[in-house]
Amino acid sequence: MKVLVTGASGYIGSHACLELLRAGHEVVGFDNLSNSSQTSMDRVRGLARGPLRFEKLDLLDKPGLEKIMALGFDAVMHFAGLKAVGESVEKPDLYRRNNVDGSANLLAAMKTAGCRRLVFSSSCTVYGEVKKNPVDESHPRGAVNPYGRTKLDIEDMCFELARAEKGWRIALLRYFNPVGADAGGRIGEDPHGLPNNLMPFVMQTAVGRREKVRVFGADYPTPDGTGVRDYIHVTDLALGHIAALDRLDVFDGAEAVNLGAGRGYSVLEVIKAASKAAGKDIPYEISPRRPGDSAAIWADPTFAKKKLGWSAARGLGEMCADAWRWQRDNPEGYGA
Ligand code: NAD
Ligand code: UFG
Repeated sequence: MKVLVTGASGYIGSHACLELLRAGHEVVGFDNLSNSSQTSMDRVRGLARGPLRFEKLDLLDKPGLEKIMALGFDAVMHFAGLKAVGESVEKPDLYRRNNVDGSANLLAAMKTAGCRRLVFSSSCTVYGEVKKNPVDESHPRGAVNPYGRTKLDIEDMCFELARAEKGWRIALLRYFNPVGADAGGRIGEDPHGLPNNLMPFVMQTAVGRREKVRVFGADYPTPDGTGVRDYIHVTDLALGHIAALDRLDVFDGAEAVNLGAGRGYSVLEVIKAASKAAGKDIPYEISPRRPGDSAAIWADPTFAKKKLGWSAARGLGEMCADAWRWQRDNPEGYGA
């Protein structure tokens, strides 16, 4: 297939481009490079043979979107968006404009070009306050911050579009916590500034860029008191997208599917596994809870197995080993 990838040079987008090429697809990617480096695209080309074209383009550039869609695609994978929860609280308008209006522009350009097959990056954040674990797709939705609100709004836009017009095939993939890197160690997660997320912070500490990890709360009602999340290897996540692409025909309009491993690990378990992978103790200290964090969330991945024939294969040890290889070989990320 010929696939357009938005947010192609970002963390998950670059891994998806790689797996698309490995699966024999033709890829055109674009990104406005606001949170990524074009170097990731050069590295993907070095890891996989196959056609990968990249353009710098913004979702808010409507004529640019129409022009690129006119190249003719079988499907679109839509990763582009802003994703920092804290920043979204400070700049809700920016998040609405970039993520929601940007996605509306993309859908309109797809419609004009006659392409109605989409795989979208949603998030388990759409489940809001967790009522019961594991979380399946029927769990009530809710927004706990403006970033989460944008995911809800984009999902709703897709549901409404698919109800209103025949022919749309949309997979709304609700990711849990993507971590790790391609096993080749050439592409990985390279957040700008201080990492918000646990794994990059842990790895930057292991490589000596940070003094210690702050564990946000050790008094949660979890086995060791620290937060529990469903970590999923980014390669498994990318392969979940390929599975969705292959099976878009079985989608009835727009449907949501969890992409998670189906088990939770605590912050301390992650630090321990990362220390083992790095072959050194990673220093940490217990700090106050981070406002807005939930105690525990993990996925019920049953529907993904049924609908996509996909399940996560890589465990926490492999996630940490691959994240460490990337960080060790690229201590400053793509900036090195
Ligand atoms: P990322 O920041 O590495 O990638 C997103 C990319 O989108 C970046 O390269 C950025 O430059 C680009 N972008 C942002 N706004 C754009 C615009 N207006 N036009 C063009 N490009 C634009 O983040 P990621 O972790 O790879 O996330 C990819 C998607 O997955 C996002 O939609 C994110 O919300 C979603 N998601 C991520 C996680 C996670 O924990 N990483 C969890 C759930 C969902
Ligand atoms: N944590 C720490 N120290 C850190 C960073 C995180 O202890 O420096 C803890 C958090 O408190 C949490 C766990 O590690 O218990 C995971 O935190 P992350 O920030 O890595 O991930 P979250 O589950 O908080 O957030 C992720 C995405 C969000 C998305 C959310 C949906 O990053 O974009 O999942 O639940 F909204």
